Amino acid sequence: MPTLLKVQNVSKHFQLHIQNNKHIPALHDVSFEMDQGDILGLTGKSGSGKSSLMKCIYRTYLVNSGTIQLHTDSGAVVDLATANEHEVLKIRKTEMFYCSQFLSVIPRVPAVDVVAESLTRKGHDHAEARARARDLLDQLGLPQELWDAFPATFSGGEQQRVNVARAIIAAPRFLLIDEPTASLDAKTKDVVIDLVLALKARGTSVVLITHDQHTLERMSSRRLHLEFGRVRELATA
Ligand SMILES: Nc1ncnc2c1ncn2[C@@H]1O[C@H](COP(=O)(O)OP(=O)(O)OP(=O)(O)O)[C@@H](O)[C@H]1O
Ligand SMILES: [Mg+2]
Repeated sequence: MPTLLKVQNVSKHFQLHIQNNKHIPALHDVSFEMDQGDILGLTGKSGSGKSSLMKCIYRTYLVNSGTIQLHTDSGAVVDLATANEHEVLKIRKTEMFYCSQFLSVIPRVPAVDVVAESLTRKGHDHAEARARARDLLDQLGLPQELWDAFPATFSGGEQQRVNVARAIIAAPRFLLIDEPTASLDAKTKDVVIDLVLALKARGTSVVLITHDQHTLERMSSRRLHLEFGRVRELATA
């Protein structure tokens, strides 16, 4: 398969200005590649740098050094470490979707619209997007009486269902997903795994952070293990 992402010598630290410029290392000289269609499982203890690496790829964080080359759908190679904001926003809009660990709730938007928005943003018809959102929320086991309710008051597991639905409904080319199954029961976990595997079958590439061995074993084709911000192991599953 052709290359999707080539990360080379990425380092990232945080400087806490409120604490005498305290230096917090997060990533040190991280290099790896992934091919199109890979599901890369990102593992490591709490604080090892998993979310930071994902945020560097999504460009929520700027790296201190290194390159993050994305081979885009149009065949161009864009270094996400240095690309301008306009390029990054375009890539986020068209091919890269980030699903954070927790749903950041938009006030007074019903669950079904939070999910449908991923499709309408891409130009899909509103009614069709809502129908597909309902179908997906149903598959994920969100009770029907919650579809038109506001996710702000949902339980952790209910919010996670909305968050996952939002991430997968539009079948992004490249999905970054942080702990998608942490608050879910075993049955729903498997639904999520099957839905993501169905996306992979249609060509989606995935970086997946998980502490869950079952999710990792069923999903990932490759694994990247971080220890104190360094690559400890890169293996084909
Ligand atoms: N915005 C930030 N400002 C300051 N320090 C940060 C920031 N983001 C992450 N860190 C620090 O970077 C290190 C790596 O954090 P990160 O969130 O990447 O870990 P993680 O592997 O995702 O952990 P977990 O499994 O608990 O989610 C930690 O020491 C963390 O405190
Ligand atoms: Mg994290």
